[in-house]
Formats: sequence, structure tokens, C-alpha cells
Amino acid sequence: MITHFARVELNTVSIQGVKQFYGNQLQFPISFEAVDEIHLQPSEHCKLVFKEGGQPLCPAHMAFEVPFTAFDDIVNLLQKAGVTLLQWSDGRSVDEFETGKNVYFRDGDGNLLEILAHTYVQEGVLPPSGYLKILFLREIGFPVDNVFAIRELFVELFDFKLDNVEDNFTFAIGGTAHVVVVSKKRKWLPIAMTALQPAMKVTFGAPNVQVLNRISNNLEGKNIPYTLEKDRLHFQIGDYNLHIQVTAFPENIPALLQLP
Ligand SMILES: [Fe+2]
Repeated sequence: MITHFARVELNTVSIQGVKQFYGNQLQFPISFEAVDEIHLQPSEHCKLVFKEGGQPLCPAHMAFEVPFTAFDDIVNLLQKAGVTLLQWSDGRSVDEFETGKNVYFRDGDGNLLEILAHTYVQEGVLPPSGYLKILFLREIGFPVDNVFAIRELFVELFDFKLDNVEDNFTFAIGGTAHVVVVSKKRKWLPIAMTALQPAMKVTFGAPNVQVLNRISNNLEGKNIPYTLEKDRLHFQIGDYNLHIQVTAFPENIPALLQLP
């Protein structure tokens, strides 16, 4: 039903800082730039928007998927670009887990970023994008008070699947989008960073208007207010501002990528 993360909007304290980090160091293409707003295009189907509005910040967590065969080269590129990789307590930066590898770093606003690669993700389905060969935005962190209640809403409203189900952590998955539903009491790895709720607007992609209609019916069933424009649905879950937008992202991509 949901295909991907189409857009994330975050606050920043410095557009120039965003430009230097994401534009110069990570070399994300810049698709729009104004005094108080900048749009970056980490991959073809995903937009990262920063707005400068003078508000205090709570850092977000985002993870970008890259091809497994390119992972080691990409870590070298990050280091060549002067990006400081975060360390685990034993001093290593790269973590190797059962199905892949990952590495963490932070932007100038303290947002916790992750580059990760999985052995099972089929290469050659989505074109690797830019300097860091990004395939798609895989994870966005949603720190909440009640992990159980919020993950159940993702299942009931959007037909999401759950993975890594724990009391204080769960992946709620729709297409390539992995919503990290995490307790505010559980700290982000690997630097034990407090999981605060960021002021962000997240837009999910959907393949057609029928999906928006189905989700708005589900929202009505739960008495959650929403606004539906012709190809865009807006509502809140907990304190999170969510949008679902009809996009051109092909519906069969998550299956072709062989995501479990
Ligand atoms: Fe993550």
C-alpha cells in the first residue's frame, strides 16, 4: 500500500551548515535553495527538506540504504569527505550484523545519520544515486511514549508489517519505508543518544488515489481527523505530522528489491 519515504522535512539552525554538510561533504544534489529553506535529493524518489525557523532542535534519525557490494568504498568516501564516523564502545565504526553492515555519523544539527547495506537487497533494481550511491531512504526514527500503541496504528491504518518486535523498539514497514518506532526511554546506538521527538514532517509515497481513500476510511474508523486533497492526505499520529502522497514510485520495487 505504502511504497516509500517520499519527503522528510526537518528544522535546522543553519541553511549554510546544511549546504556545507549535505551538499559539499555528502554531495547530495540540491534541487531548491532559498535564504531559509533548502531541498536535497539523496535519491530520485526522495526529497530531504530543511527549513530555518529559529526553533530549538531535537535531532532526528535517518538511515540510507546503499548497495552491499559498494559499502566498503562508500565508507572510504565518507572518510575522504571528512565525515567523522561514530564509534561503538570498542572503538570500531563499522558494525557487521547477520544480514549486512552499517556506519553512523551526525550532521551539523546533530541528526543521527546511518548508511547501511544488506546482503539480501537485490542490486540493479534502483539506480545508485550520487557520490554515496544511495538506493533509498530506509529508516526514519519515531521516538514515542507508547511503542505498542503506535506500531499497532501503523499496522491497522496502513497495513504495515512489523519486524524486530520488542517492548521498546519495532520496525513498522511499508514498501521500502522502515518506521523505527522506538521508546523515548531507549537511546539511539551507537552513542547512547537520547531519543527525542524531532519536529519533522514525513511524506510517504502511495501508488494511487485508491490507497489514499482506503487509508482515509481507516482514519475515520479510528476517529483520527485528516484532510484529503486530490492526491495528498494529511493527518497526525501521536504528535507526528504525516502526509501520504500519490507518487510515480513503481509499486513493484519493494518486491523486486527482495525486501523480506
Ligand atoms: Fe537505524
